[in-house]
Amino acid sequence: MNFDLVIKGTGEIVTLAGPARARHGGEMSEIGVEKGLDIGIRDGRIAAIEPNLDGDSIIDAEMGVVMPGFVDPHTHLIYAGSRENEMAMKLQGLSYLEILERGGGILSTVRETRGASKEQLIAEAKRRVKTMLSFGTTTAEAKSGYGLDLETEIKSLEAIADLNEETEIDLIPTFLGAHAIPPEFESSSKYIDFIIDSVLPVVKEEKLAKFVDIFCERNVFSREDSLRFLSAAKDMGFGLKIHADEIENLGGAALAAELGAISAEHLLKTTEEEVEIMADAGVIGVLLPGTPYSLMEKEYADARKMIEKGMAVAVATDLNPNCWTESMQFIVSLSSYMMRMTPEEAITASTINAAYAIGLGDEIGSIEVGKKADLIVLDAKNYRCLPYHFGVNLVKTVVKDGVLLR
Ligand code: NIG
Ligand code: FE
Repeated sequence: MNFDLVIKGTGEIVTLAGPARARHGGEMSEIGVEKGLDIGIRDGRIAAIEPNLDGDSIIDAEMGVVMPGFVDPHTHLIYAGSRENEMAMKLQGLSYLEILERGGGILSTVRETRGASKEQLIAEAKRRVKTMLSFGTTTAEAKSGYGLDLETEIKSLEAIADLNEETEIDLIPTFLGAHAIPPEFESSSKYIDFIIDSVLPVVKEEKLAKFVDIFCERNVFSREDSLRFLSAAKDMGFGLKIHADEIENLGGAALAAELGAISAEHLLKTTEEEVEIMADAGVIGVLLPGTPYSLMEKEYADARKMIEKGMAVAVATDLNPNCWTESMQFIVSLSSYMMRMTPEEAITASTINAAYAIGLGDEIGSIEVGKKADLIVLDAKNYRCLPYHFGVNLVKTVVKDGVLLR
């Protein structure tokens, strides 16, 4: 039987085949490398991984590495403008929260995003999506969170839905209305009341988000705010995510475990005990090494401890106007060079575990018969070159839903 498309001439196929769940601890090293096989694609799905396949179209991988398309499970894709002006403040030694207190940071992007039309937001995000695809990201989570009012949060989520239709990438929408306290509210708890009562019901009614997220941090949202917001969202049927322990530990990671969140993000200040709690509860840790890099900080999340304690770890760009990268290749590299993850662990974290972190592990994240044909070919002699050879685009071919994009 002929295939629509066959990838031949593979040097290595990194399959990530394994149990149908996120890979924990030592399992993150088992990436399943096959040699001498072709990949047959039919109707947008992987239909065979065998030698000597024939197809209507052929891609010659020229002995490169074939792997699943990257899954980026944490992006703030929707915003207007950029913040290159903050580079000078960072160079002077101002911290992230100090910049925020001076009306910079998230709140300056909120001002620009409120002033932008939906069409403008889509046009700006489209350029980022194009870069993501060309760097091998075939699915990404995308958050709202630079509106902080009903109109702009809904506009942002609608922009994500439109981008899903208008571009090849698959986007999974997350409502991050609880990203910062907007200037018109005097307290975090009053703002939480507002989003629970007036925004969440609209997001649900219009089916605009699969997950919700909250920035649990000093001077932003407390543990109590986070508990209230996430519990309300859970009751309404949303999946839960939380920005936890980025700058200070307010107990967000343990809260994620308590509430059955799918993932907790950042985790720089998480204690060993909390790592154990997350491992037991099956909360996926989504680590964002681009963030300390862009904040010029020395401390990164303790990925080694998390893996040793049996947690499932994923990595993501955190793409946002403070940490502007669309490249999961760069993140994989930082994962190895700055968090000491092995190439195998970093690849697992950026594919199958990232897919499970957004609830799509059954569909994407590995090269197995029946899964979506979202594949990339690297100009690399073996997969170890992916973290090793950094700052360049190693992706020479992108296949999304069985269609050759690049
Ligand atoms: O995940 N920490 C909160 N939110 C983003 C940064 C957003 C911004 O600075 O605009 C983050 O790092
Ligand atoms: Fe973030």
